[in-house]
This record gives sequence, structure tokens and C-alpha cells, in this order.
Amino acid sequence: MNLNNELTKKLNITEKTGLENADSPTLESDVPFQNKGYMPRELSVEERNKLESDNELVSEFKRRKFEQEAKKNWDLFYRRNKTNFFKDRYWTFREFDELNEDYSLIGESPIRKLLEIGCGVGNFMYPLLNHNKSIFVYACDFSTDAINLLKSNAEYDTNRCHGFVCDITMENSLRECLPQNVEIDAVTLIFVLSAIHPDKMKKAVESIAQVLRPGGIVFVRDYGMYDHSMIRFDKGHKLDEKFYVRQDGTRTFFFSLEEIENLFTKPSPTGHLFHKSSNEYVFRETVNVKENLRVPRVFIQSKFVRSNIPVL
Ligand SMILES: C[S@@+](CC[C@H](N)C(=O)[O-])C[C@H]1O[C@@H](n2cnc3c(N)ncnc32)[C@H](O)[C@@H]1O
Repeated sequence: MNLNNELTKKLNITEKTGLENADSPTLESDVPFQNKGYMPRELSVEERNKLESDNELVSEFKRRKFEQEAKKNWDLFYRRNKTNFFKDRYWTFREFDELNEDYSLIGESPIRKLLEIGCGVGNFMYPLLNHNKSIFVYACDFSTDAINLLKSNAEYDTNRCHGFVCDITMENSLRECLPQNVEIDAVTLIFVLSAIHPDKMKKAVESIAQVLRPGGIVFVRDYGMYDHSMIRFDKGHKLDEKFYVRQDGTRTFFFSLEEIENLFTKPSPTGHLFHKSSNEYVFRETVNVKENLRVPRVFIQSKFVRSNIPVL
């Protein structure tokens, strides 16, 4: 067993899927280390060598197959893991003030209708509904299995939420999937864009712009460049620069701040869609106190505001 695998095991990062519990704070420490900043994490010499030596991409044939089977692989993921994989996202209310029911700022209307994209089985939606009683959540995922699990939760209440299957990379997808004339105040993307092929991310952003009201906010949290899970990939998993495939066929991209900002703020054929409100790296550690092990986690956390121009 190499060092990476040993660390993975001790930190309880699932070896089988290679997908860690995203940003689960720590395993045994109650007060996780957290820092924020604008510069990427500095790599050790060993880490840099590992990344630089991994320069062979998965074959074109396989890359195409992973793209064609993206939905199937997420369905299989949820069939295997059911609701037991991701941890509930309670940190979202701390990180994004606007999600709190009592949030008020002069001239800004509160968030009443929120669209949670790539909702999985509801690890963000259910804590949010419990925390904020004035909010209605539209929740979508392209995995039918995920949406079935979301809806089978005893807390699923059609007066407060609506779950549906939708692939956000398809043209006009959200506009067609959401009930007609719904005005969305905010969108959440929690570890979702990274699961989408980089060539299709812009399409996803355009779909969001079609349903978000002017002034509405997109909240993003996702994998950042040089996160431990990026360094951990062994050879044979690289699909493109900073884009990898896990053992179970699901894929992940690792963002720099510049990339996520460009994705939202660079004008698209339909115009200037978003402007940046905030964009930063979040640095954390996954810690196993008993074993005295720490690995660096890096996420990007951003807010983008819908410009006042309607999208055709
Ligand atoms: C890493 S999981 C995160 C799940 C959830 N947001 C959470 O944090 O617990 C990525 C999710 O994005 C969904 N997804 C991937 N591509 C998608 C697409 N094109 N349209 C909608 N959902 C997608 C997957 O099915 C999966 O549920």
C-alpha cells in the first residue's frame, strides 16, 4: 500500500469510489482549521513532482465513453451508496448569510425561491428547509436515482420543495424543466460544476441565467486547485488539465479562482450574464487526531450576481 492509499484509509476517504465526503470538516476534531485567500496553495516538491509526472491522458475513446455515460455512472453511484454518502451541508448558512431567514439588507429582497442544482439526495436541501422556514426549494439532478431517493425522504413536502430530473448542460434545460414563469431568487451549486465536462460548463451557466431573476445570486462551492483529492489521483485517471476520473467513472475538475470567475463573468453570445460578488479559496484540513494525520483541502467559494439584462 503506498502512502496515499494509507492516508486515504486512515482519513476514511472512501477508497472504492475515490470520492471523498467532499468538504466534510474533520473526522475527529471538532474545531476544524479554516482559512481563506486568493492565492493557490503552495505545493511541496513531492506533490509538484507527482502532478508533473502525471502527463498521460486517458485514451480519447475512454474519455468519450465517460462523457456519454456520465448520467449512468451517477445513477450507479446513488444505487450503491443510497443516502449514506455525502454529509449534510450545515456549513452553508455560516458561509452564505443570505440563506438565513432573518437576512436583510437595505434594498435587497430576501431569498424566497431557491434552485438547488445537482442536489443529490438532499444533503443541502433538507438542512436548509429546516433552518429557513420561508424558503421554497426547487431541487434538480440529472441522476434519476438521486431524485427518487430525494423524494423518498420522509421530510419531502411538496408545499416546501419540488424535486425533478434535469441535465443542466442541455439547451434551455432549466427553463423547460421548471414550472412556467417561476422567478428564481438564488441558485446553489455545491460540488456540481466540477462534475461536468469543462466544455459544457458554460452551457450550464447560460441555462442558469435563463431562470435566475436579475439581481439573483448564484452560490458556488466546489473543488479548488491542489486539493488533496487532486494530488491523490494516481496515473491513469487524468482526462485533461485538472480534470480526472474516479474509479467509479464519476469525474471531477479542480478550479482556480480565475477559471470559475471567467465561467460566470466572461460575456457569452447571449450577453453579459453575471458579475462577481465574491470569489475565494477556502483552505481546510481533514484531520484524524488519533492518528495525527492531516491533509490539505482546497475549495473555491464564490457568489455571482445575475446582471440586469434578460437572456433570450
Ligand atoms: C459531487 S455530487 C454533489 C451532490 C450534492 N450537491 C452534495 O454536495 O451533496 C455531484 C452531483 O451533480 C450531479 N450532476 C452532475 N452532472 C450534472 C448535470 N449535467 N446536470 C445536473 N446534475 C448533474 C450528480 O448527479 C451529483 O448528484
